Amino acid sequence: MDDLARPYRSVLYIPGSNERALEKAKGLAVDAIIFDLEDAVAIDAKAEARALVARMLSDGGFGGRFQIVRLNGMTTEWGAADFDTIAAVGPQAILLPKVGSAAEIEAAAARLDSIPACAGTKIWAMMETPQGILNAASIAGGPRMGGLVMGTNDLAKELMTRFRADREPMLTSLQLCLLAARAAGIAIVDGVYNAFKDEDGLRAECAQGRDMGFDGKTLIHPAQVAVANEAFAPSEADIDLARRQIAAFEAAEAEGKGVAVVDGRIVENLHIVTARQTLAKADAIAALGG
Ligand code: COA
Ligand code: MG
Repeated sequence: MDDLARPYRSVLYIPGSNERALEKAKGLAVDAIIFDLEDAVAIDAKAEARALVARMLSDGGFGGRFQIVRLNGMTTEWGAADFDTIAAVGPQAILLPKVGSAAEIEAAAARLDSIPACAGTKIWAMMETPQGILNAASIAGGPRMGGLVMGTNDLAKELMTRFRADREPMLTSLQLCLLAARAAGIAIVDGVYNAFKDEDGLRAECAQGRDMGFDGKTLIHPAQVAVANEAFAPSEADIDLARRQIAAFEAAEAEGKGVAVVDGRIVENLHIVTARQTLAKADAIAALGG
C-alpha cells in the first residue's frame, strides 16, 4: 500500500523497553505503531530498548501495521547508536524528535541513502518545538518525508500554553503543520490525549482533529484504539453520501451538465474527488481488516 492511501487512524506509542506491550501490539487493531526509544524510555533502559526494538522488528509479526521507530535526538548521547542499530534492520520509517529545521531531515536522509537496507525507509518528524512549527513547510517538503506527528505535550511546554479542552491555544500550530503536510502531500497525525481513561474526552478531541483534516491520532494506551479508529474512518453515512454524489454527478455529466444536486447541495467535480477519496479510504481500511 503506498503511503498516502494507507490509513493512519490509530498510531500507538509503545515504550521500546516494554517487551510485553510490544508483543501485545501484534494483536491490536492499530494502523501504525511508534516504537519509542525517546521519552517513554528511562535513561537506564535506553540501550536495552534499542536492542529489543531492533530484534522485534527483524523478527516481525506486526502484520500490516505500519512500523515507525522514534529515535533519540541526533544531538543526544543515544542518537547515533539508535540510528545505526535501527537503520541496520531497514525500518519502514524513522521518527525524528524535536525537529527544528529541514537541515535535520536532509542529514538523516543522506545517512539513509548510504544504507542499502534503508532504500524504502521514510522519515517522519515530530512537530513539537516553536522553531519546528515555524519551519513546518520546509520540514514537510524534505527528502524521504512520509509524515508529521504533532507533539502537543512538548509544544505546550515550549509555548507555555495551558491545557484547554477546546485546544484553542494550540490551533495555530496544528493548522500550520496541517498546511505544511498537505502542501507536501504527506501524512499528518494529531497529538496524544493524556487522560487515557477519559473516553468521552478522547472522542471529542479525535472529532476535532478529524474535522481539521488530520489522518489520525497518536495514542498512548490500547484502550484508545477503538475510539480513534472509529473517529477517523469514513462513517456509513459518509460512504453512502459519497456513492450518491458520484452516481448523481455521473448522471448529470451524461446529460451534459457539470453540476448535480444531492440532498439540496450542489455537487461539482471537486466534491467527486473527495467522494472518491472517502471510498478509497474505506477500501484501504477494509483491506487492513476493518
Ligand atoms: N502499547 C501496547 N500495550 C500497552 C500500552 C501501549 N502503549 N500501554 C499499556 N499496554 C498494555 C499493558 O502492557 C497491559 O497489558 P497486559 O494486560 O498484557 O499486562 C495492558 O495494556 C493494560 O495496561 P494498563 O495496566 O492499563 O496500563 P499501564 O498502567 O501498564 O500503563 C501507561 C499506562 C500510560 C504507562 C502506558 O500505557 C504507556 O506506557 N503508554 C505509552 C506512553 C508513551 O509511549 N509515551 C510517549 C509518547 S507520549
Ligand atoms: Mg516529545
